Amino acid sequence: MTAQVEELDPTMQRIARASLRELGDIRIDDVLSFIDRGLERMPSYRELYWRWETQQWAVSDLDFGPDRQIWEQATEHERQATLWGRRLFFNGEERVTATLAPFVWAAPTPEIEVFLSTQMVDEARHTVFFDRWWREVVGTDAADMKTLLDQVRPTVNEGYNTLFYDRLPSIARRLATDPSDYDAFVKGVTIYHLVIEATLALTGQRFELETMRERELTHCGFYQGFTAVARDESRHVSFGIKVLHDAVQEDPERFAPLIQRTLVECLPLISGTIEPPDPTYLTEYGHSEQELLEFAMNSLNRRLRAIGIRLAA
Ligand SMILES: [Fe+2]
Ligand SMILES: [Fe+2]
Repeated sequence: MTAQVEELDPTMQRIARASLRELGDIRIDDVLSFIDRGLERMPSYRELYWRWETQQWAVSDLDFGPDRQIWEQATEHERQATLWGRRLFFNGEERVTATLAPFVWAAPTPEIEVFLSTQMVDEARHTVFFDRWWREVVGTDAADMKTLLDQVRPTVNEGYNTLFYDRLPSIARRLATDPSDYDAFVKGVTIYHLVIEATLALTGQRFELETMRERELTHCGFYQGFTAVARDESRHVSFGIKVLHDAVQEDPERFAPLIQRTLVECLPLISGTIEPPDPTYLTEYGHSEQELLEFAMNSLNRRLRAIGIRLAA
């Protein structure tokens, strides 16, 4: 693989190469602008691989000391609101780690296979990030990760359960049964990269990180680590957009309706996922559910235009 160095302006260069500590000075919207920039000129799979090599980080380098101090002073309501969002993320990261291997097996080219292998490492690291935060900030008597995940698994949310415990494992099983099923691969990338990562995860990350920034919490280990997570997710989303764009270019009659159908099936689950069990939790974040949904749908529509389809046929 020949290294293809991307041409980036100084701001993008700074974000692309920022260390964990430097990520504390970076705004989530600037990280996300990587995806929008990629909509105009899509990075190749190789460029995304090189970006991954440059953007390595370690959960063990984070300092959760400031986070612990803030946690100790937080009210019960603030704690419950924080835990609600982080439960969705912790379980979600574990689910996407568990289901990605069949995508690697079903990858239509070695370049895609290589990129997806880097993504598996990322998702595992994100899961460890939440495990460490939970143990060191919230505290738990759970001896292992399975016990902790079972304890914190969000159960009340139907949309979340359907998406992460039914749709995602179902498509992964279909790919494992027949890795040559390209339709299943395109459908899988629509669910995984477009619905879960681009629309759901990045919206949640954006509002969580903006809220922390507004409250001057950027020195926290969680802020720095979660910004690194969002930077990883921006690579995953750029990858997914390219896969779907290339599929639509190759055969619009076959793949545009397949992607549209999958979205129509999954979109109601998005509002069913971000709806908190207690509506006052969102006031802790200073943002309304409507604002989150609008942000999610606007980003989705921009990405769909880049892929070359509209939501309604
Ligand atoms: Fe992730
Ligand atoms: Fe991801």
